[in-house]
Amino acid sequence: MADKKCRLIVIDGLDGSGKATQSKLLAQRLSDMGYKAETVSFPDYESDSSALVRMYLGGRLGSSPDDVNAYAASSFYAVDRVASYINSWGRDYAEYDYIIADRYTTSNIIHQMAKLPEDERDDYVEWLYDYEYNRLGLPAPDMVIFLDVDPDISQKLIYGRYSGDESKKDIHERDFKYLLRCRTSAMYAAEHLGWITVKCSEGGSMRSIDDIGDSILDLIKERFDA
Ligand SMILES: Nc1ncnc2c1ncn2[C@@H]1O[C@H](COP(=O)(O)OP(=O)(O)OP(=O)(O)O)[C@@H](O)[C@H]1O
Ligand SMILES: [Mg+2]
Repeated sequence: MADKKCRLIVIDGLDGSGKATQSKLLAQRLSDMGYKAETVSFPDYESDSSALVRMYLGGRLGSSPDDVNAYAASSFYAVDRVASYINSWGRDYAEYDYIIADRYTTSNIIHQMAKLPEDERDDYVEWLYDYEYNRLGLPAPDMVIFLDVDPDISQKLIYGRYSGDESKKDIHERDFKYLLRCRTSAMYAAEHLGWITVKCSEGGSMRSIDDIGDSILDLIKERFDA
């Protein structure tokens, strides 16, 4: 098909919001509908390209997220994306119908923009888009879905995953105040950058995985006539 274009759908949210779960479910549902779809996930922890991200999250550059400034830390994540684009999913991007990204450039906005004063946010976003989508040559997403989970609930999901062992958490996960700052920056982004918010918790508990998945698939069908 001459006008065939891969749709890059990003699923983002705070830690433990269900990004991996929903990306996989969406890719599966799109595949079941006959589309060529796959997930990609960032950071690419299996690859050497994420070495700086691992140093940062592991506390080897400082025990607080603020020990590495927003622009430096954003660069660590950006170059990891470029490496995996060149080595793997860039080829798929040329021929698939849908690539579903579990985190993307948008995660820099959630987690790194949170380090900046409010009046520097717009400058940061302008810099980040130019850096990743223009200079580094990564594709810009066609749609960004923000999984909005009450922070208390996502903390519980993370706690459950590590069976209560705090020492397994990375420097972001350990810092609840920082998580709240990230939530503020995500809310700002969702409102100003055209992200679509999917409310995943209500009345103090999570909606079911399938129910959230239905909402996401409806959004895709509506936007892309899928
Ligand atoms: N709707 C849901 N209801 C209950 N549990 C859920 C739901 N969605 C995901 N979970 C569970 O919550 C945990 C975190 O989910 P998942 O790994 O998908 O989140 P994530 O956003 O990718 O997390 P991280 O930010 O740590 O990478 C997992 O144990 C998952 O099974
Ligand atoms: Mg995940």
